[in-house]
Amino acid sequence: MADRSLVLTGGTVVDATGSRPADVVVVDGRIAAVGPDLDGDRVLDAGGCVVAPGLVDLHAHLRQPGKEEAETIETGSRCAVLGGFTAVVAMPNTTPTMDSVAVVREVAALGRTALCAVHPSAAITVDRAGDTLTPMADLADLGVRLFTDDGTGVQDGELMRRAMEVAVGLPHDVVLAQHCEDAVLAAGGAMHEGEWSARLGLTGQPHTAEEAMVARDIALATHTGARVHMQHMSTAGSVALIARARADGLAISAEATPHHMLLTHAEVASLDPVFKVNPPLRTEEDVAAVRAGVVDATLDVIATDHAPHTPAAKALPFPEAPPGMLGLEFALGVALAVLDLPLAEVLARLSWRPAAVAGLTDTQGGPVAVGRPANLCVIDPTAEWTVAAGATASLSRNIPYVGRTLRGRVRHTVVAGEPVVVDGSAQR
Ligand code: DOR
Repeated sequence: MADRSLVLTGGTVVDATGSRPADVVVVDGRIAAVGPDLDGDRVLDAGGCVVAPGLVDLHAHLRQPGKEEAETIETGSRCAVLGGFTAVVAMPNTTPTMDSVAVVREVAALGRTALCAVHPSAAITVDRAGDTLTPMADLADLGVRLFTDDGTGVQDGELMRRAMEVAVGLPHDVVLAQHCEDAVLAAGGAMHEGEWSARLGLTGQPHTAEEAMVARDIALATHTGARVHMQHMSTAGSVALIARARADGLAISAEATPHHMLLTHAEVASLDPVFKVNPPLRTEEDVAAVRAGVVDATLDVIATDHAPHTPAAKALPFPEAPPGMLGLEFALGVALAVLDLPLAEVLARLSWRPAAVAGLTDTQGGPVAVGRPANLCVIDPTAEWTVAAGATASLSRNIPYVGRTLRGRVRHTVVAGEPVVVDGSAQR
């Protein structure tokens, strides 16, 4: 029989309202008490740890339907909870594409059996082909709050303008998330265009392939009033464009990935396809600008872009290998290792800010208060650990951090009141 109440003892609660030492009692999926010396039927030790709202990922490729050999909604959600996430937004570049009510319903149904909350996004254009808008109104009625053609950007500015106009007219508050990549400028580029692409003799993608679309969409968002979210920002120029748009008063959000905060194009010297990703790993100056952008909240969200690919796919030569890296189990560890920010600010970018962008604040992102749904993570923020090869719950193995020391470990994760990770182990 399930335990009636769960208590997290001896931790420090950190949420958007501040920080205080407190035990947290959970009953029937909700927080029932927060305070000193509380009891419960089942006790989880949070001593030396932070008890925080669960992390929320705006950008996870769960590969189902269509690529179940690389990941399933279940295995991806296991990676998520091991990384402290209690909710993920599933990207729509599945097969078939999440561009219809039927496919989004299928993903939502599979998500209900996952270890964390799975919120389907949907494509902006049918089959992500860039020609025709999806039935955005029907999809929003179904609960979709984030639309994206991620994997590719919407190339046609007129179509993107219409998507924004449709979004503004919907009765629901939706966000248009853009994979900013001008396909013509980026054509054939397997890595960043710069010193290392020249040395390796590989075709590169220039900075401008990203920045041209960031600039276009800032102009379109200004014109239409639509809420826009810039995915995986990777260049100093993009960060500067977003900072200026913010200063001009535009309501825009933007994300940085763990890998763009840590790794540079010099990694590609190994020609190991684990370092192939879109947008590509950039220069040291870009990494510094992305970190600075996260620190000053120009980039207000950290999102994983968890992109599993099978060992066979990643065994192809670098130019032909698919782009993408695992991220869900490493995002917090990278963020705490590289960012010069108080823990609460890191949690803001990994939890309550993304929850707000995706319209999930009723259930995700805290505060840790009586009556709220119990979606929580318990983190040891100072624990250091070294990433081992193959150390993932993913069906894929494309970890770009092997051998690196990260900071901050997830001890427990509680989803809708259920402890799904206990002492660092997934419970199913
Ligand atoms: O590296 C990437 N992989 N970037 C994307 O935008 C798509 C993703 C994937 O689906 O593998």
